[in-house]
Amino acid sequence: MHTLSSPVSSNQRHLHPRLTEIVQRHLRTTHRGEIAAHNHAAYEALRDSLDARPRPLVLDSFCGTGHSTAALAGRHRGHLVVGIDKSARRLAKHPGSADDNYLLLRADCEAIWQLLARDGLRAAHHYILYPNPWPKAAHLQRRVHGHASFPLLIQLGGVLELRSNWQLYVEEFGVAMHLAGHRGYVSRLASGDEDLSLFERKYRKSGHELWVYTANLSGTVSGSV
Ligand SMILES: C[S@@+](CC[C@H](N)C(=O)[O-])C[C@H]1O[C@@H](n2cnc3c(N)ncnc32)[C@H](O)[C@@H]1O
Repeated sequence: MHTLSSPVSSNQRHLHPRLTEIVQRHLRTTHRGEIAAHNHAAYEALRDSLDARPRPLVLDSFCGTGHSTAALAGRHRGHLVVGIDKSARRLAKHPGSADDNYLLLRADCEAIWQLLARDGLRAAHHYILYPNPWPKAAHLQRRVHGHASFPLLIQLGGVLELRSNWQLYVEEFGVAMHLAGHRGYVSRLASGDEDLSLFERKYRKSGHELWVYTANLSGTVSGSV
């Protein structure tokens, strides 16, 4: 991945005009999608790993090649760090085999979130690094905060960190979290920080500004804003 990338280009200049309406509609309902067999199998692997050695859970949703998952496993010793990505092609590029405190799953994040929430499991930390931006305004509902599974993400709790090279995406995410009753912070990622993922490295090399949203979902009370 050596090519430089262009900044996100969108026909949307400001917060999406339907953001509040769509997020509030999703917050009033419980997302229960049909779960495909490969997602059930991936979830079983997660449960087996936790059953063999119960530990707090760290999620690296949309992990791509899992470079970030391996790095996070070093940062969160004593936790089970689970990288989830739907692309077998990306996961196949993971360097080396998984350590004993991390696991890579080929699965849809929404399905794994749904199964974790069903079983009452919570995350200690949840990383969402450079999710697909879906920059066209018409695609709001494909963004993490515009999707029907957004309430599941909130239910999983933990210290949440979402990063993007599109400032508007991070701000929209922050507004959606605020609508759900959680206060967080939007800031620019410091330029001296070590790259956590391959996309982060690519965007930094391309000179993009990187943005981060952080909140402690276990420490804020829904409806307190
Ligand atoms: C822009 S890449 C970022 C990858 C990685 N987090 C990084 O920073 O290098 C977005 C990733 O999300 C994955 N993805 C998109 N939708 C997904 C979904 N619903 N469930 C799981 N993975 C998904 C894609 O396969 C892709 O690897």
